[in-house]
Amino acid sequence: MKISIIGCGNMGLTYARSFLQFRKAAKDNLILVAKNESSFQKLSELNIAKVSLGVNDEVLKSDVIILAVKPQDLKSIVPSLSKKVFKETLIISILAGIKISRLKSSLQHDFIVRAMPNMPAQYGMGITAYSPSQEVNIHHISTVENLLSTTGRTFLIENEDLMDGVTAVSGSGPAYFYYFVSIMIETAKKIGFDESLASLLVLQTMHGAYHVINNAEVSFDTLIKKVASKGGTTEAAFNVFNQKGFAQILEEAINKAEQRSKELSSTN
Ligand SMILES: NC(=O)c1ccc[n+]([C@@H]2O[C@H](COP(=O)([O-])OP(=O)(O)OC[C@H]3O[C@@H](n4cnc5c(N)ncnc54)[C@H](OP(=O)(O)O)[C@@H]3O)[C@@H](O)[C@H]2O)c1
Repeated sequence: MKISIIGCGNMGLTYARSFLQFRKAAKDNLILVAKNESSFQKLSELNIAKVSLGVNDEVLKSDVIILAVKPQDLKSIVPSLSKKVFKETLIISILAGIKISRLKSSLQHDFIVRAMPNMPAQYGMGITAYSPSQEVNIHHISTVENLLSTTGRTFLIENEDLMDGVTAVSGSGPAYFYYFVSIMIETAKKIGFDESLASLLVLQTMHGAYHVINNAEVSFDTLIKKVASKGGTTEAAFNVFNQKGFAQILEEAINKAEQRSKELSSTN
């Protein structure tokens, strides 16, 4: 299978490396599209795939083209793709907030899949939701699964409107988690632990707690009760969470992220 990647930054190169690692494309059948001479140089030095300066004929005839530029850079790649991509080529876009209808009309192409991965994809631990255009067939879906699952879990959502929810929950979600973890580490340091012990305490706790979530077949409420005894330390902490409305703050934050995604989709 011939695959071209337009936009070889964090995500584009994550796909390139994952496709190679899982033998989804051979080095000669993977094309990294560089936007200028200097990125051509940088991508060539990686020596992991073919590099093309701009979109050439081979790119246009690829079986799959992955679009991984920033949403605001879509305009810069449209002229080289619109009406020029081979009819049978599948285009997979990971551009946040760019709807399938916009991609179809600007690229004048039918076979489009819009996907929303997240940052842990870089370590094969991502989750990617994707929505296909109406024309996409089962063969394309199987290609999408085959490729995107090299970076973690994948799932299809037929209702494209839910992509904003995906963006707010799993797209932005890793940053919420980093924030929570970093506050716990900073607090542990203030209590008196040095940086390394504070990190170990928090990271191993998160790792262990995640393991419990994945293995214990009980509700979150039951899990919390197993840690928090009446009148104890965890209960003291939860009293503060409840008094200050932590649950409401988190819910409001996720809702705001979803709303912002909708706003961006409507302006893009
Ligand atoms: N990062 C995430 O966690 C994440 C999660 C979900 C979705 N996404 C989506 O993934 C896309 C890429 O994100 P990213 O974090 O990988 O961004 P990034 O690191 O900035 O990568 C974008 C790349 O596109 C290149 N580019 C810009 N214009 C180009 C052109 N005309 N031709 C070829 N290449 C061009 C940029 O080159 P220069 O740097 O030289 O301009 C850059 O290397 C975004 O649309 C984002 O919404 C990202």
